[in-house]
Amino acid sequence: MELVKTIEALQNAVKNARAAGKQIALVPTMGALHKGHLSLVKKACEEGRFVVVSIFVNPTQFNNPEDLRTYPRTLDADIALLSNNTSAAVAFAPSVEEIYPEPDTRQFDFGALSQVMEGKYRPGHFNGVAQIVSKLFMIVEPDVAFFGEKDFQQLAIIRQMVKDLKLNLRIVGCPIIRDDDGLATSSRNALLTPEGRAIAPKIHAILQQSVEEYKNYTPTQMIERVTKQINDVAGLEVEYYSIVDGLTLQDLKAWSDTNYAVGCVTVYCGKVRLIDNITYFKPKEL
Ligand code: PAF
Repeated sequence: MELVKTIEALQNAVKNARAAGKQIALVPTMGALHKGHLSLVKKACEEGRFVVVSIFVNPTQFNNPEDLRTYPRTLDADIALLSNNTSAAVAFAPSVEEIYPEPDTRQFDFGALSQVMEGKYRPGHFNGVAQIVSKLFMIVEPDVAFFGEKDFQQLAIIRQMVKDLKLNLRIVGCPIIRDDDGLATSSRNALLTPEGRAIAPKIHAILQQSVEEYKNYTPTQMIERVTKQINDVAGLEVEYYSIVDGLTLQDLKAWSDTNYAVGCVTVYCGKVRLIDNITYFKPKEL
């Protein structure tokens, strides 16, 4: 695998692969790679695609400077992990100046999709995500790009952006990868204390239990129940739990309002902000 740091070198590599008849796949990441990322990269590598993995901690999507400062950066380990476990062709690890030679002033509007959940609690976050992902799409011009379903709202917003900008690429969402105890893999897990790591799997356990019981409660009652159960675990604090339509991301008043119900949660485990989600039900074709 080749490590490139400039747009020019990346575009040369992509041009050669395209000339050789390869499909181009992009897996955007912020590094600190783990088995969740590896599952995306492995999927991208199927069918002999030429796979670019971008590794870039995008400053414009952080609304909290401390979060940006402490975000784990492990480039050498990331390169080793990709080289040893995948057939990705290129890791693209640009500097901030390479991506933003001048400030990106573009404003994206995703309407109601971005006004809830992460959009509400992290103002500007999705504008930053759209800035970097659209730039990466313009630089790489991939045929297909892979994103994890853990960032459920991000995936919906990226699909919307592709529609709005009429981009000619396919977005593939990939299932959440969990550790054996149920904790969703995340780069932020590396920041958990041993005590935090021990209690964090309770989040998924409680969500799973709520899927078993949902028919006995309204969505509003279920939100209260899940929030209380998580908050009852010493060391965990829910920022929000929302039960939404899986396509519009708007709150559900009744289960019968949709055929695709998803619960999305954000929990502070000490200082570490973890997100996760669970599907209550969805149509077969999704
Ligand atoms: O999901 C992430 O890691 C980031 O939001 C992304 C999509 C790589 C954009 O920086």
